[in-house]
Amino acid sequence: MSANKESWGSRLGLILAMAGSAVGLGNFLRFPVQAVQNGGGAFIIPYLVCFLVIGIPLLWIEWAMGRFGGKFGHHSTPFILDTMGKNRLWKYIGVFGIWTNIAIAAYYCYLESWTLSYMLHSLLGTFSGLDQEGVAAFFDSYVNLGTSTLGIPYEPIVFFVICLLLNTYFLSLGLAKGVERVAKVGMPLLILFGIFLAYKGLTVTAGENGAIHDSSVGLNYLWTPDYDELWSPTVWLAAAGQIFFTLAVGMGTIHCYAAYVSPKDDIALSAMSAGWMNEFVEVVLGSAILIPISIGYLGIDRVTELVKLGGLGLGFKTLPYLFFQWGDVLGALAGFMWFSLLFFAGITSSLSMGTPWIGFLQDEFNWKLRPAALSFGLIVLVLGMPTVLFFNYGVFDEYDYWAGTVSLVVFALFESILFAWVFGIDKGWREINAGADIRIPVFFKFIIKFVTPMLLLWVFVGSLFTPKD
Ligand code: PHE
Repeated sequence: MSANKESWGSRLGLILAMAGSAVGLGNFLRFPVQAVQNGGGAFIIPYLVCFLVIGIPLLWIEWAMGRFGGKFGHHSTPFILDTMGKNRLWKYIGVFGIWTNIAIAAYYCYLESWTLSYMLHSLLGTFSGLDQEGVAAFFDSYVNLGTSTLGIPYEPIVFFVICLLLNTYFLSLGLAKGVERVAKVGMPLLILFGIFLAYKGLTVTAGENGAIHDSSVGLNYLWTPDYDELWSPTVWLAAAGQIFFTLAVGMGTIHCYAAYVSPKDDIALSAMSAGWMNEFVEVVLGSAILIPISIGYLGIDRVTELVKLGGLGLGFKTLPYLFFQWGDVLGALAGFMWFSLLFFAGITSSLSMGTPWIGFLQDEFNWKLRPAALSFGLIVLVLGMPTVLFFNYGVFDEYDYWAGTVSLVVFALFESILFAWVFGIDKGWREINAGADIRIPVFFKFIIKFVTPMLLLWVFVGSLFTPKD
């Protein structure tokens, strides 16, 4: 047992920190792009179904596992899983969870560091007067894309290091003074900026070369259900993948935050509050900014084309250009808001990726918080360097595929079996409901026992047989 005596400062702080972990770059950059790539309206129904039958049950499972492990003084996935199953194998699956977090952090923090740099460039007016190709070219040269030589991208490296120093610093302050405070400042600002940008997004009327595109086209595109596509397995896999990534389930992150919840305190309602807050940000703000602003300005065909070229870039290659069409001052301001929104979304997520590793060093070796936080920063720096240096060669996408997609399903499948079948659904159900401030409908017991593991198995097998791109 570790000497770790940390705890959350308040229930609101805990919920905001959990919501901060869930609300991330995935909500603003990944969700809209997944939706467009999977046919717009075809995506929404599978997405919501996956939220209800995979997302919500996994949230309860993970919060319950974490709080259960915390009773025994454990704060990291290997130890938490170990207390629930008798076989040593579970401990190693927990170790796998730690690595997933670190591997995701390795490319995620790099992306997060772009937002810092773009905040600055927006304020400096770097994008003012450039056309869309110019802004896109700036991005390509920033990440060293499209050059055949192996140049060293100095500026991205500097911002990557600054970003990791910030993460390390906040982690080293501990949960209540670090993580919770960042979430309490960052989340409200994020929502405020998001509402402003969404309002602008839904009211832009002036288009490129004087053309007028109705920006509601963007929303309709995402929100008009396409029933014909309901049977397409790739759409379902993409929807399940997005649910995992956005809720930060299937990687052992939530367990480590929940391990600091007192056994007497509710988790059922807290888990729902954080989960639904994430969905609000994702489906309301996440679908009202990137795509509507882009479609309102460029028209649906251009945007679909751009998204197909590489969705991630849209927020960096297109939006800064569009903002400056609103004038220099508003452009700088909107750019600053957009990238700080992304930065807050990013850092509250990457901080949570550090806790499984830090908790493990404390549980297993009694490390102090500061050196543990520093070691996280260093590992992410080393593992992240390939994504910085070889961005050109698709390393980033490889990380996202293996760490950010496949391993989540594998981990979730194992933990749902552990929870419902090894630990036992009756005990598990009691754990979820202990201290609960809401009454969870009993049919969820059935869902957790049968439906969730079956669906996870189906998603896993399905992904083996579905081509990567
Ligand atoms: N949920 C975060 C997002 O949507 C990503 C994340 C992954 C957070 C892993 C924590 C752990 O961007």
